[in-house]
Amino acid sequence: MPASQTTTIAVLSQKGGTGKTTTVRTLADALRRAGVSTLAVDLDPQGNLSDYFDLPPDVEPTIADVLSGRAAASEAIHEDLIPANLSLAEAELMLGGKMGRELTLRRALADAPDEYELILIDCPPSLGLLTVNALVAADRALVTAEAQYFALQGVEQAMEVIELARDSLNPDLQLLGVLLNLADMRTVHSREALSALRESYGEAVFDTAIRSSIAYAESAERAVSILDHRPDLGADYLALAGEVLTRIPGLESASERLAQHAG
Ligand SMILES: Nc1ncnc2c1ncn2[C@@H]1O[C@H](COP(=O)(O)OP(=O)(O)OP(=O)(O)O)[C@@H](O)[C@H]1O
Ligand SMILES: [Mg+2]
Repeated sequence: MPASQTTTIAVLSQKGGTGKTTTVRTLADALRRAGVSTLAVDLDPQGNLSDYFDLPPDVEPTIADVLSGRAAASEAIHEDLIPANLSLAEAELMLGGKMGRELTLRRALADAPDEYELILIDCPPSLGLLTVNALVAADRALVTAEAQYFALQGVEQAMEVIELARDSLNPDLQLLGVLLNLADMRTVHSREALSALRESYGEAVFDTAIRSSIAYAESAERAVSILDHRPDLGADYLALAGEVLTRIPGLESASERLAQHAG
């Protein structure tokens, strides 16, 4: 087990392109600026998180080596990130045939250094074995939804998988919150998506919605955090990070440091 003061958060969604990777990348950045020691874990064979952090594509070992038992989690940390690449697709296939396949990541992360207060796991765009591994390893789940029609359905499906993980292997798993992402509140569909989510999930929906902007694609391409690339937009993620911190026992005081940073 990681140190008891480490909180592990799985960021997931039922469908692709809901801003999971951008959320992990930018939250990690905001939380570190608030002095919260944060490990990011790329659990997607696309390796986008590793790209967003500008890690060399051939860096080793990766999360695939960790899940296959070839490396310890602590050996696979590069600049506070455990990276992924396409070899994770193969590791996932191998994992499928093993006993305790859903517990592999949880067991591996038990070896992560105690110094981390938070671990953020970026899930792939499916609710398969890798996402289940993330949910079994996590204390909290953060569900992202694109502010579009059918946002609610996607969140409902993610919730079912969270419940499954809770009912079987991880009874302590709790929902951290539901994030409306890529929002344009001038449009009817964004407003409807938000009110549908609020109706179903109430307070669990973060007050902060992340605004949609083309600047995110530029920021990803240049591997420059949106907090630096466009501080005006980055304010959304600072606000989200503040909400996340107030929801995690023991980290509330970091939320005040963050407020000073946003100052
Ligand atoms: N707030 C935003 N506004 C506009 N575009 C965004 C925003 N956040 C992320 N994007 C862009 O949308 C695309 C998908 O974002 P991201 O990779 O974070 O989503 P994802 O859920 O991780 O996708 P996947 O399911 O493929 O892993 C990227 O091109 C990203 O730059
Ligand atoms: Mg992604």
